[in-house]
Amino acid sequence: MTTLSSLQKINGNFKGKDILDANQFSKRDIDIVFKKTDQMKKSVLKKGGVKLLEHKVLAPLFFEPSSRTFSSFSSAMLRLGGSILPLPNMESTSVAKGESFTDTIKVFSCYSDALVVRHPEQGKVKYAADISPIPVINAGDGIGEHPTQALYDLYTINESLNKTNGLHVVFFGELGRYRPVNSLSKLLALYPKNKITFVSPPQGKVQTTIIHYLKARNIEFVETTTIDKVIGNCDVLYVTRVKKEFMSEALYKKIRGKYVVDKKLLTKMKKKSLIMHALPRIDEIATEVDSDQRAVYLKSQVINGLYVRMALLALVLGKI
Ligand code: CP
Repeated sequence: MTTLSSLQKINGNFKGKDILDANQFSKRDIDIVFKKTDQMKKSVLKKGGVKLLEHKVLAPLFFEPSSRTFSSFSSAMLRLGGSILPLPNMESTSVAKGESFTDTIKVFSCYSDALVVRHPEQGKVKYAADISPIPVINAGDGIGEHPTQALYDLYTINESLNKTNGLHVVFFGELGRYRPVNSLSKLLALYPKNKITFVSPPQGKVQTTIIHYLKARNIEFVETTTIDKVIGNCDVLYVTRVKKEFMSEALYKKIRGKYVVDKKLLTKMKKKSLIMHALPRIDEIATEVDSDQRAVYLKSQVINGLYVRMALLALVLGKI
């Protein structure tokens, strides 16, 4: 919003705020989100939702494809009694005629109470927030941030393992272009005794900004190219897709199919641990893993995205 610094801290007050970066959240803010998420979950399970956002309208502006983020925000708005502008992609709007991003943001801000924006360019959603008079939620910006994904990832971890601290989280695969890694690393850095291992090919190392972020907060982390030594003591194995859309064809061919989770690897994991993935999955987790009790990526991790986004919409629109 123009009246607020778009990267301002939440500080326990969500009303009217943009949600752009995981570093806006404190532990107290996350406690609030989790508590409200529990309430949303109860309301959905009991009666399909709760009418908190009647007469409120959400505009989903997705300049990149999406299944989960688009649909869960849409479902969240509908389950809260609100409405959503039917915009499955920007090709059905005047963007296809050449309308500028700036004009598009300003126009849809006139018709709605909040924008959910996804864009292939890092920083573009923050720009949208800077020029929009209504709250803007980052639904993923290039290789930058995906804060609402990280919030429901952490919610899922807490729900399954009953803690957000003292965790050993292993990020596995191409990490340099995978925005949920950036956002979840920042949230994990809020809690004591969390340790992160980044397992990636040399061409897919986690971004240096994240390394600096963790160092500045004295968070224990390791970077490595192999998983063998860490798989036996991780609490969360977070698998990533090789993001073809953000790299050359040559690099994609070189690294795809190299970091794969299969049943054999799972035999080395602790019984009480989780296998997570933001999805979509291509071939980095063999389908034989899906039925493992520790695999939450097609189960609670997806469902929690709905509940967390319901909580965030109601909070940002000042209704809870
Ligand atoms: N996890 C996630 O952002 O999925 P989509 O790209 O399908 O929205």
